[in-house]
Amino acid sequence: MKGISVITLVLATVLSGCAEDPRLALGEEVYRQNCKVCHAQGINGAPILGNSKMWGPRLGQSHEELLSHALSGYGLMPAKGGKTHLTDEQVSNAIFYMTSQVEISN
Ligand code: HEC
Repeated sequence: MKGISVITLVLATVLSGCAEDPRLALGEEVYRQNCKVCHAQGINGAPILGNSKMWGPRLGQSHEELLSHALSGYGLMPAKGGKTHLTDEQVSNAIFYMTSQVEISN
């Protein structure tokens, strides 16, 4: 039994870190430089990184829907967070990163 839980733990760590998906590391960089300013603290109601209450309802949408909102602007969020130099792919990577940070357990 002990062996199984260790394997589960390792698997969970690998999956949540998603070391194999390069989009997450790329997205984290984009997030830090362009999105964090609002999404770390919830400026104007921006869903806070990792906050399941704020992200929960939004995660009912597909990645494509979230992306299209972020690209064209949504509520009080300007298109691409106002960082118009970002490519669509960079914004997409940042969203992969942001949604990967949501704690599903609480
Ligand atoms: C100027 C502040 C600001 C910046 C910078 C910003 N956002 Fe936002 N973001 C918001 C706000 C405010 C909302 C909530 C909008 C609403 O629901 O009315 C939001 C919502 C979102 C959503 C959820 C959209 C949905 O359909 O529910 C995503 C995804 C998102 N932002 C991604 C990003 C990404 C990626 C970046 C960086 C490239 C970024 N944001 C930068 C303010 C910002």
